[in-house]
Amino acid sequence: MIEILKAVKYIINKAENRVKPKREYDQFYATEITLIKRIKLLSKFKFEKIIFLGDDDLNSLCLGYYKKLKKEKAEIFVLDIDKDQIDFIEKISEEENLEIKTIYQDIRDALPKDLKNFDLAFFDPPYTPNAVKIWLIRALEILLGSGTNKERKDYNFLKNKYIFMCYGYTDKSLERGLKIQKIISDLGLIVQAKYRKFNKYTGAESINNESDLYIIQPTPKVNLKEIDYWKNKKIEEKIYTYEV
Ligand SMILES: C[S@@+](CC[C@H](N)C(=O)[O-])C[C@H]1O[C@@H](n2cnc3c(N)ncnc32)[C@H](O)[C@@H]1O
Repeated sequence: MIEILKAVKYIINKAENRVKPKREYDQFYATEITLIKRIKLLSKFKFEKIIFLGDDDLNSLCLGYYKKLKKEKAEIFVLDIDKDQIDFIEKISEEENLEIKTIYQDIRDALPKDLKNFDLAFFDPPYTPNAVKIWLIRALEILLGSGTNKERKDYNFLKNKYIFMCYGYTDKSLERGLKIQKIISDLGLIVQAKYRKFNKYTGAESINNESDLYIIQPTPKVNLKEIDYWKNKKIEEKIYTYEV
């Protein structure tokens, strides 16, 4: 636990003067305690390759620095549309020799072909149903790779694949959570755990400055048709909260 605290404090201090969160990308920064809780949870899971699909919270740097302190290995990737966040993560990763790999792109665009066979995808998408669906589809493409349908639905293959997703709705808007539950089920995924109000933020009043953390896994009923349909294609949807 001491290494987690050290890692998060170190990265947060380094990030003191970085750019302000950008409204156009639905950014709100998570609190230090939230980062500590996320790294603690991640430290309980086994993974060799992890990707953060959007990372204005700097989870990747906290995890990378924690792994460095623990002398543990993991390949850490970050994909983000925001060049400032990518540049900052690259800078600190180089200074601290964390070897985090970055991909500067809009998740709606077709993914690079070699982005496959990851164990875990973590994301805190814009809080709209369209965004959740797109982030889940892209995460599944990255986790499941390009084997045959039989290989990608194999229990032994699926049992080590995880999606950690943050999503917020208040106690007065449970129906917003229900919509998300349907998207998850329609894609053939199962919620293995859900921690209500796990994440806390500053500046996200519309969701009461908090959101849930879902731990999701693909089942053998995973909707490969939908995932494969969007491979190599741009997904043209409005995804940000101010757009819908
Ligand atoms: C959507 S923001 C939300 C995070 C925030 N903590 C919250 O509670 O709302 C998370 C990350 O996704 C990134 N992001 C937003 N739109 C994106 C897109 N179209 N493609 C890739 N990353 C995106 C943002 O730059 C940010 O780093």
